[in-house]
Amino acid sequence: MEIDVAVEAPEGATLVVAVADPPQPLPGAAGGVAEALAANDATAERGVARLLRLEGRRAIVTGLGPRDEIEPDAVRDAAATAVRELAATGGGPAAWLIDESLPLSASDQARSAVEGAVLGGYDPGGWKSNGRRAPSVDRLTLVGDAGLEEEARRAGIVAAWTNRARDLANAPANELTPAAFADRAAELALPFDTLSAESLEPQEMEHRRMGALLGVGMGSHNPPRLIVLHHEPASPAKPELVLGLVGKGITFDSGGLALKPALYMEEMRGDMSGAAAVVAATGAIAELGLPIRILTVVAAAENVMGGGSFRPGDILTASNGKTIEITNTDAEGRLVLADALVYMREQGATHVIDLATLTGAMSRAMGDLYAGVFANDDGWRDQIVAAGEASGDHAWPWPMHPRYRRFIQSDFADLKNHSVRAQGIPIYAAEFLREFAGEGPWAHLDIAGAAFLTWSRGDYLWQRGGTGYGVRLLTELATRLASP
Ligand code: BES
Ligand code: MN
Ligand code: ZN
Repeated sequence: MEIDVAVEAPEGATLVVAVADPPQPLPGAAGGVAEALAANDATAERGVARLLRLEGRRAIVTGLGPRDEIEPDAVRDAAATAVRELAATGGGPAAWLIDESLPLSASDQARSAVEGAVLGGYDPGGWKSNGRRAPSVDRLTLVGDAGLEEEARRAGIVAAWTNRARDLANAPANELTPAAFADRAAELALPFDTLSAESLEPQEMEHRRMGALLGVGMGSHNPPRLIVLHHEPASPAKPELVLGLVGKGITFDSGGLALKPALYMEEMRGDMSGAAAVVAATGAIAELGLPIRILTVVAAAENVMGGGSFRPGDILTASNGKTIEITNTDAEGRLVLADALVYMREQGATHVIDLATLTGAMSRAMGDLYAGVFANDDGWRDQIVAAGEASGDHAWPWPMHPRYRRFIQSDFADLKNHSVRAQGIPIYAAEFLREFAGEGPWAHLDIAGAAFLTWSRGDYLWQRGGTGYGVRLLTELATRLASP
């Protein structure tokens, strides 16, 4: 979808008019919306869009809901429904009217409208034999002040990368193996001078004694990869700061020998959603040209059953020398992340954040909207929560406390990867990761639930499957860190 800004709606574009309840007075042709609302031909109800004619011109009236409750998600929803309605009625270019009288700044409206339109227009059916549909709404013009151009351009870039993360998450595991993932990461880095990509193969992992990542990957014919991206801008705003982005990249999680039940197991192709987010966010940061140094590390492996599979009772040694008793092969995410976190610190990251679809318990606790945030540093955690809220990727703080550490204490090794106590599961997982996160600020986002939808969310992210959670949050965080 092309994005631009103009002072007047281009000829031939369908007008998109977002209305609140009670409706605001609208200028020009949109003035006719008042009569349409009165005649019930249009409604301000959130998530409902209607096509009508205003002074002979095609227009979509899309509802924002109660005026005093308008926030960015209301605009994202209104834009997504408008795009769906327009696509269902012939498509073509759209012209979104920015409205200064709404209780949301023009730049917030611009950003949210672009995100809602691009994310709401995503087609998850890219693997159908007749190919992916070309976006039927091919252009979105924001009708407003020329000063909105930069905000609209930025939002368009970030939303497009969010859709790329969704493609990666939705990709089937027979296509997106760890090696194929490494190739995709290298490809996306190619167009940018500031980005470079490399990937470590099992031999190099052996050399670095990454026993936890290797252990998880051992059962599969598709060997693991540690994928590394460097973003090195010519003049970083803070030369001493290196933002480390770590992603869980389990290309398929069968549970290993602790085999998962069959129902919904196909969704475990999305167990690399954290990796998809950090890779796509790195692409967005490079395309935006943000003056910040980034180190991105993805631990990619397939957790399946095979003659070489790791077993319960096995003891694995991670690259920092800590030994781990395996009590459940399905708690594999924390294992691959352990070696990735150690590597991240060795390579000099100063501020680290990992994204992982780590526990089913997080999705049961938070549902499909919020990720849980854990950190060894309250200030760092607060920055991440704030960037999340500003970006539309909602995140909520969870506690860490040394008292939880005893649940992952092992009688045989330094620690175990799982406790039989069905309590506080996401917190034990975070305590486990803390053992590998080294010195300096580190945060962990458990994005199970928010990253991959079993059921439609019924809002601008209405498609099942990958949501691209984290791309917007990380880009916002990087933007904030890159400003002096
Ligand atoms: N990838 C899963 C977590 C998950 C489950 C994400 C459902 C999204 C939806 C993870 O590897 C896992 O299996 N976690 C176990 C942890 C347990 C063994 C401590 C879980 O959640 O059951
Ligand atoms: Mn698992
Ligand atoms: Zn998993």
